Parts: sequence; C-alpha cells; structure tokens
Amino acid sequence: MALTSELGKQIKLKEVEGTLLQSATVDNWSQIQSFEAKPDDLLICTYPKAGTTWIQEIVDMIEQNGDVEKCQRAIIQHRHPFIEWARPPQPSETGFHHVAQVGLELLSSSNPPASTSQSTKITDLLPPSFWENNCKFLYVARNAKDCMVSYYHFQRMNHMLPDPGTWEEYFETFINGKVVWGSWFDHVKGWWEMKDRHQILFLFYEDIKRDPKHEIRKVMQFMGKNLDETVLDKIVQETSFEKMKENPMTNRSTVSKSIMDQSISSFMRKGTVGDWKNHFTVAQNERFDDIYRKKMEGTSINFCMEL
Ligand code: A3P
Repeated sequence: MALTSELGKQIKLKEVEGTLLQSATVDNWSQIQSFEAKPDDLLICTYPKAGTTWIQEIVDMIEQNGDVEKCQRAIIQHRHPFIEWARPPQPSETGFHHVAQVGLELLSSSNPPASTSQSTKITDLLPPSFWENNCKFLYVARNAKDCMVSYYHFQRMNHMLPDPGTWEEYFETFINGKVVWGSWFDHVKGWWEMKDRHQILFLFYEDIKRDPKHEIRKVMQFMGKNLDETVLDKIVQETSFEKMKENPMTNRSTVSKSIMDQSISSFMRKGTVGDWKNHFTVAQNERFDDIYRKKMEGTSINFCMEL
C-alpha cells in the first residue's frame, strides 16, 4: 500500500496481521521479533498520541531520581528508543542512520535498559521474549476521540506518515483502523484484556492530567523505586505540559523540518482532555459513540472524556 504525503512523497505502508505499519518496520520484522528482552526490562506501550512522550519523561525522571540534568543527557527518542521505529533512509542533512537499526542497537547496548518503548497494536505483535521473561509493561490509554484529534494533527505535520486528508476523511480512516499502528479499538481492548494476566500497569492519560502526583507515585512503585515527596513534586513540575513544551529534549525541536514541520502543528500541541469537542460535529459524535459501543462491547474499560 502506498499513500502520498503532503510533500508528494510516497509513504509506503505494509501490513502485519492486518495492522498497517511503516514498511521499514515490516522489512525489519524478523530482527524486531528476535529482540531479546531481559527480565528486568520495563516496556512502555501506547497507542500513538496517547501520551507516549509524557510517560517516557516521567519514567526517566523517576529512574534518575528527579535529576533534571541527567534527563537532559539526550533527546527522548534516544533515551527511550522505539523497538519498531524504522524509517526509510533520511535526507543526509538530518544525519539519521537507518533508525530501525539505531533503535535496536541502542536497546541492546543499554546497560540494562531502564525502559524501552513501543507502540504496537496488539499484544501478539510484541517480540515474544517480553512475555517469556515476564517483563513489566506500562500501558497508557487515552480516550479515542482525543487520540483521533491528536493523531490527525500529527499526520498533518509529520512527513513520515501519510497525509491525513480532510478531517472528514480522517474520521473514516481512523474508525476503520486504517492508520499506521492499526485500530485504536483493538489496541486498547487487547491490552485491557491482558492487564490482569501479566505485570501490566494500566494508566489513563486523563488520570495523569487530573492528578499527576498520584499517577506518578503509582509508576514509581511499579518501578520498585522509593522517592520522597519533594522529588515527586519536582517530577510533577518538570513533566508538566508547559515544561515539556519548552524542553528541547522532549519537544522534537531537534527533528528536521523536512520530517516534522512544527509550523503546521506543534508536536506538543495542546495537551488537554476534551479537545475533541472542537473537532467533532454533532453527527460525527453520535456516529462515533455508536461505533464505539459496538467495537468495545463486553469491555469494562471506562474513559473520561472531559475534565
Ligand atoms: P495533543 O496533540 O492533544 O496536544 P505521543 O507522545 O504519544 O505522541 O502523544 C502526544 C500527545 O500527548 C499530544 O497531545 C501532546 O501534546 C500530549 N502531551 C505530551 N506531553 C504532555 C504533558 N506533559 N502533559 C499533557 N499532555 C502531553
């Protein structure tokens, strides 16, 4: 499958078990699948735009005991490489290597990796060693409507992903799961169903927004750390949307404009709950709710749609 981006580039996508992925990811599939996790690895798993960068920064801040300088040691994509992050070779001026390999090399050379990150559709797309080693998983879910809005704007500015088209067109693409990394419904349902059978801490974006200290404390305990209240307060402060938007190590300002054009839309865009209300028409909202009921039938998960 090939889709044309805003720059007229052909964005090549391929499918694995019905899930659309960037072709470079699929071309490296056997290497990704043979990744050898260690028992003390912690894997961060999210659907795109669910707050991946936020939880990555929180985890690193906890791991570094709230030391801001240590968290400035590298951009977030290098501190938490994506296992599946594979792209076609980049224009030479960006200085990128083949990112799939960079990701895998970084992961395997971490000593030991404090955490790894992956956005994968459903649990069975993960390298099996994570299950075999009974690793810990940190999953962050965000309500589907805000995810859709965020993903739409991300596809507008990210030239490595297909052009989303109009909002109306994107609405159809998203509800049909024809976006890269697949259906929101399958992703969230898959992890929700697995959560009591493995070491999975299941968090909600909306909860972190409402009571960051409470949720950060949960993450800390899950990581087996014990930080005092002042350090926790500092982590809350340093991982606020406002701070992370200004932080070059988290705001993707170091990424070339030819890849992410932040004049179209910021990577750290709004960071709120309920922005969907500014995008969904009444008719779209009713239709979405109907589809949601059908697709999520039998699932006990509950999302907060506004704060
Ligand atoms: P919006 O586009 O709604 O603003 P990901 O990291 O998975 O790509 O998710 C990006 C989304 O998380 C964006 O949502 C971004 O603004 C939001 N985000 C990132 N850091 C955040 C923070 N510290 N607090 C709240 N939202 C944050």
